[in-house]
Amino acid sequence: MKRIVLYESGTGFTAQYAAWIAEELQCESVALKNAKSVNVAEYDQVIFGGWMCAGKVMGYDKFVKLHAKNAVLFAVGMAPAVPEVANKIIADNGFNAERFFYFEGGYRPEKVNFIMRTMMKMLKKSIEKKPEKTEEDLYIIKTFHGADNAKKEVIQSLVEFCKK
Ligand SMILES: Cc1cc2nc3c(=O)[nH]c(=O)nc-3n(C[C@H](O)[C@H](O)[C@H](O)COP(=O)(O)O)c2cc1C
Repeated sequence: MKRIVLYESGTGFTAQYAAWIAEELQCESVALKNAKSVNVAEYDQVIFGGWMCAGKVMGYDKFVKLHAKNAVLFAVGMAPAVPEVANKIIADNGFNAERFFYFEGGYRPEKVNFIMRTMMKMLKKSIEKKPEKTEEDLYIIKTFHGADNAKKEVIQSLVEFCKK
């Protein structure tokens, strides 16, 4: 089966997951911004990963326009990889739950531009203001100082799904 992994990454976590997945599936991983020369129609399966920004999967809108066959999606965010987080992304974005995987990346404040950092500060403030914080909220607050929680082994569920 001919496969490719496409991704959109701001600070490197999604690129790392894309590279790990491509290594396991023995295919190429290409940043969406460099994929103009890729003929997506040639691939039997296209895996797309994007980083989470305010509840949205970055690059997904562009990816949809490619009309890839047999698409498998993953998203990478700073929120913990618990079912509640993945289910909310699925519900908010109308994804097919069977074909969507959520992985925890982390947060690299030093690589984020001024506008994004300002957005993050606002997000932090809004979480801090919540009278009742969930476990996820507390986790996200800790991660704001910077964290790398990416782990290669978590891609296995996606890799197995792709090979099925
Ligand atoms: C402006 C902004 C908004 C973000 N929104 C979310 C979010 O809604 N959910 C989440 O889990 N992480 C969120 N994050 C964290 C990133 O998704 C996280 O750092 C991810 O690992 C970045 O992946 P990348 O290194 O591939 O860019 C946000 C980060 C920024 C800068």
